[in-house]
Amino acid sequence: MSCSITRQDVSLVKSSWSLVSTNAERTGIELLRLFFKRHPDYLQLFGEFADVNVDQIEADRRVARHAIRIVKAIDTLVNNLDDEQPEKSNQLLGPLRSLVDSHVKRRSIGYDKFSNLGKILVQYIVSQQPTNAITDVKLIEQSWNKFYTLILDVVAGAEEQMRQQNC
Ligand code: HEM
Repeated sequence: MSCSITRQDVSLVKSSWSLVSTNAERTGIELLRLFFKRHPDYLQLFGEFADVNVDQIEADRRVARHAIRIVKAIDTLVNNLDDEQPEKSNQLLGPLRSLVDSHVKRRSIGYDKFSNLGKILVQYIVSQQPTNAITDVKLIEQSWNKFYTLILDVVAGAEEQMRQQNC
């Protein structure tokens, strides 16, 4: 059973994210580079730049545009985490549902792919924290895993709903 997200988690997610989100283009490109390096087959899903050479990904303006969109979308999710009552975070539901609609329902991109992106995202954020960080990076990692689990739960719920509708 996963533990629910706490105020401390929200605080760590927000502060660690603020260090990378300020440079949306760099962060987004780096995330996509790591993602496609680990899962080259996923590139085919991205019609607009499916032909890109992953080793030269940072030079591609099409990728840069998409990279910024992804970071802005994560930014919206992070900003909608409720500092006072994180386990409720009602404001998160709207943006989460539109993310899930556009990916799970419209593109059949489901749990496994989201989970694989989550691993890259959390690793990347942890790797960008200052080495002299007062806060233990392990705690930051745990907090991000809890936050990302909220996303995965909604993705899994939408997939299950689609399965039932197709019965
Ligand atoms: C936290 C996770 C994710 C965020 C925040 C995110 C964000 C976005 C945003 C903002 C867009 C553009 C708007 C739209 O069409 O909905 C988009 C499009 C897209 N995303 Fe994601 N995404 C996530 C996960 C994934 C995953 C796991 C995959 C596949 C492995 C994926 C594949 C795509 C594709 C194929 C498009 C369409 C690209 C195009 O226009 O050609 N996304 N995503």
